[in-house]
Amino acid sequence: MNTVTLNNGVVMPRIGYGVYQVSPAECERCVSDALSVGYRMIDTAQAYHNEEGVGAAVKKSGIARDELFLVSKVWISNYGFDKAKASIDESLRKLGTDYIDLMLLHQPFCDRYGAYRALEAAYKEGKVRAIGVSNFYPDHFIDLASNVEIVPAVNQVETHVFDQQIEAQGYMKEFGTHMMAWAPLAEGRNNFFTNPVLEAIGKKYGKSVAQVALRWLIQRDVIIIPKSVHVERMQQNLDIFDFELSQDDMVAIAGLDTRQSLFFDHHAPEVVKMFMGWK
Ligand SMILES: NC(=O)c1ccc[n+]([C@@H]2O[C@H](COP(=O)([O-])OP(=O)(O)OC[C@H]3O[C@@H](n4cnc5c(N)ncnc54)[C@H](OP(=O)(O)O)[C@@H]3O)[C@@H](O)[C@H]2O)c1
Repeated sequence: MNTVTLNNGVVMPRIGYGVYQVSPAECERCVSDALSVGYRMIDTAQAYHNEEGVGAAVKKSGIARDELFLVSKVWISNYGFDKAKASIDESLRKLGTDYIDLMLLHQPFCDRYGAYRALEAAYKEGKVRAIGVSNFYPDHFIDLASNVEIVPAVNQVETHVFDQQIEAQGYMKEFGTHMMAWAPLAEGRNNFFTNPVLEAIGKKYGKSVAQVALRWLIQRDVIIIPKSVHVERMQQNLDIFDFELSQDDMVAIAGLDTRQSLFFDHHAPEVVKMFMGWK
């Protein structure tokens, strides 16, 4: 499995399986399928309400715990030091494990510093092997990374061909933080799966649009977590290590960047208000 070494020396797979919008009922089956086709990193979150399904599939798989890499995220309703600390213990219980490999703050709102200190405390206690953030775009990211004891190992942000986060990745590299892409397939938005540029490149290599877009992220040194509830697609999304995009392909894909989110602008007042309604 292709791996990356984080800023604290922890080794993490470059590709994992994400379980956002996988219902609690279906999660165990999906994660079992993902493990059976070769995924070893699973990305969940307290807010997905499916950590227990991940834990059940891991237990059933019989795969040694140290061969797996579990990622979860603290939701904003659990921010502040004490609540975040208690929520990490709850995630450990739901996942059925003594440690989480990578624990992130899910959003850059509310008492994020208190919550981050809880991640640092859990790290020191050995409950998590690495810590980081998610949805921290350059302003929030630089602020936090400059003012904490343990610099985030990972920042998971929306990243796909239509919103490429080139500058954001540059700022992360300055701090030794790895970029991890959520919605690496743009969740299919903006006619992603029939994009003519990606289709034409795929034809040259006998690969699908999804495979081209995922390979492009890998070649940009981005960690990816595509989601599918279909085992054939899970397999297809893993099968991206036997071809290499050319420099011309990379330039053509760079031309698809709109530098705009397909989901939310974390700086827009109405979006911040929406998140306040979810705390
Ligand atoms: N930190 C955050 O705030 C945040 C936000 C969103 C997501 N995430 C994480 O990132 C992961 C991935 O993002 P995402 O789930 O939003 O979107 P995504 O992985 O970009 O796209 C998933 C969509 O693509 C379809 N799909 C997957 N592989 C395909 C293939 N080979 N061919 C055709 N269709 C395919 C899936 O359909 P089927 O399932 O029907 O196959 C699903 O509709 C999440 O699961 C979650 O772990 C994090």
